[in-house]
Amino acid sequence: MGFSTARMPRLRTSWERLEESHHWYAIKANSNLKILQHLRKLGCGAVLVSGNELKLALHAGFDLTKCIFNGNGKILEDLVLAAQAGVFVNVDSEFDLENIVTAAKFAGRKVNVLLRINPDVDPQNSKFGIRNEKLQWFLDAVKAHPDELKLVGAHCHLGSTITKVDIFRDAAVLMVNYIDEIRAQGFEVDYLNIGGGLGIDYYHSGAVLPKPRDLIDTVRELVLSRNLNLIIEPGRSLIANICCLVNRVTGVKTNGTKNFIVIDGSMAELIRPSLYDAYQHIELVSPTPPDAEISTFDVVGPVCESADFLGKERQLPTPAKGTGLVVHDAGAYCMSMASTYNLKMRPPEYWVEEDGSVTKIRHGETFEDHIRFFEGL
Ligand code: LLP
Repeated sequence: MGFSTARMPRLRTSWERLEESHHWYAIKANSNLKILQHLRKLGCGAVLVSGNELKLALHAGFDLTKCIFNGNGKILEDLVLAAQAGVFVNVDSEFDLENIVTAAKFAGRKVNVLLRINPDVDPQNSKFGIRNEKLQWFLDAVKAHPDELKLVGAHCHLGSTITKVDIFRDAAVLMVNYIDEIRAQGFEVDYLNIGGGLGIDYYHSGAVLPKPRDLIDTVRELVLSRNLNLIIEPGRSLIANICCLVNRVTGVKTNGTKNFIVIDGSMAELIRPSLYDAYQHIELVSPTPPDAEISTFDVVGPVCESADFLGKERQLPTPAKGTGLVVHDAGAYCMSMASTYNLKMRPPEYWVEEDGSVTKIRHGETFEDHIRFFEGL
């Protein structure tokens, strides 16, 4: 895996007049420690979905009071960590609220909570968030626990790979209406958390897609009109296109119908194509001579699964054995979703400075790492 600082995001975005507003980076997208430290230095808080992500955020030096713990299945043990650390917590369901109250009692500390609301047009299919028609139940439950819970805001997350900011504005309109309703009952609610979900140009089509700053611009006036602070939770849009997976061609074969480029990388390191049929742009490292014959290839890994592919029907010149092959835009949901299936150990990660110098920022895993799990049993 390789990351390029030259393409790291510049977060000096337009928070104008939104002073207490925040970029909270979704750690699940990429949890490399160096990346986290870098984003923290740029001013990000963090979006956490497990106790281990919370511990990692602490390790990376994040101010945990500028972090939020999201999730539909947060376990009590992790909620206690969050309560102790002063992390904001999203309320996702009735049982989640009960657990947050228990965690607050255990930690001896009031928890700042946001209600995760579903502005989704199709909430029936979402396993996340409260049932909006039960909003009053949640408000009463918060009122019933003044020593354990402080309601500070409302949260929503609209989905993934969103390419237009309009739907954030539509969602924000709905959300501020909910916030008006909540405030009308005496709650001092300060935060609107509009979630993450911005897409990137995976197809390298040259399309100019909205960036976090465009999202902020889209909702700024509405947020200001209610005197709210805005939180956004970008993951992919901060990190996806600064990284690529670097592979080596093991060989080229045909089955009579299809041609295959077999590489050393696979669904173990980068599962998005296999799992979602997602497109990741692929290029050979060596420049293609102008007269090179182009053929159609599936780019596949060595994993013992027919689903193991990185790209289908790609027009490429026939590479020689050992040629480098790059899968682009591997910064988000690739290494963080990698497995050791077929005992392919997770690869090292490298950081490329703007001057071209390269530093290792994660060790590659080894067979010995695997064997260690069985020692001393
Ligand atoms: N906030 C919440 C509540 C989320 O559920 C997510 C992502 C984010 C923020 C960050 O969203 P982003 O800006 O990265 O889209 N594995 C899938 C993506 C799963 C996203 C899950 N939630 C993929 O590879 O496309």
